[in-house]
Amino acid sequence: MQDEHIPLTANEALPRHIAIIMDGNGRWAQKRYLPRAAGHQAGVKTVRNIVDYCARHAIEVLTLFAFSSENWRRPKEEVSLLMGLFMATLQREVNKLDENGIRLRFIGDRSAFSPQLQEKIIAGERQTANNAGLNLVIAANYGGRWDMCQAMRKIAAKVGMGEVAVDDIDEKLISEQLSIADLPEPDLFIRTGGEKRVSNFLLWQLAYTELYFTETLWPDFDQQCLEQAIQDFSTRERRFGYTGAQIHAASQDH
Ligand code: IPE
Ligand code: IPE
Ligand code: MG
Repeated sequence: MQDEHIPLTANEALPRHIAIIMDGNGRWAQKRYLPRAAGHQAGVKTVRNIVDYCARHAIEVLTLFAFSSENWRRPKEEVSLLMGLFMATLQREVNKLDENGIRLRFIGDRSAFSPQLQEKIIAGERQTANNAGLNLVIAANYGGRWDMCQAMRKIAAKVGMGEVAVDDIDEKLISEQLSIADLPEPDLFIRTGGEKRVSNFLLWQLAYTELYFTETLWPDFDQQCLEQAIQDFSTRERRFGYTGAQIHAASQDH
């Protein structure tokens, strides 16, 4: 059969929202006989490069999975090292983000963090709140299931107050209670480090996201690697349940 795929225009094919599981720091360090900490440190450099790329290429949202709600299970030393790294990175980078028009936000249960880190998070969000450039979302102590739980608690409270009837609970209402409900859902999901799983990242929001997995370890993931992922994305045909023919007809109408 002939390949009927009609590529979308470059502009339409650019993802508005890229969500990344930054995995492979530990293995990157191990390969070099370095402590895992060195891998996390090298990973911060990658974050800088990827944020820079997205900001310069008019990507609207970049969501980075920095620490999952399950990562507390790691050795105490690694957890506190990561917390220290978040703190130091925030301290160092917020002014630069602000100067570049980037709006910084955090999603996840921040109540588990030290008061100092919570303050830094709030200060970083406040300082950049009015910026109109890239939305940089850091998922920290985040879990997709946590997100759904907190959404359900909010809905239950609304029902309890009589603001919402049980029959009014629909997908739209649930979506609105989730983290970053005001931003478009991810178009492109990237996981580095070779594992092919979602590890409790944005579960609801990934319903129709294009998935991209690469063996490249996060510290080695450079701007060219990101470009390759975006290129791959631009060849996909997103059907959202329609047939390919329907999608082609609609794209020809444009
Ligand atoms: C991802 O790298 C960073 C965090 C989870 C904080 P890992 O630390 O999971 O690296 P690997 O998977 O052990 O190589
Ligand atoms: C997912 O990576 C979480 C982050 C990158 C922050 P993990 O390395 O924790 O995932 P699993 O445990 O291999 O699924
Ligand atoms: Mg890992």
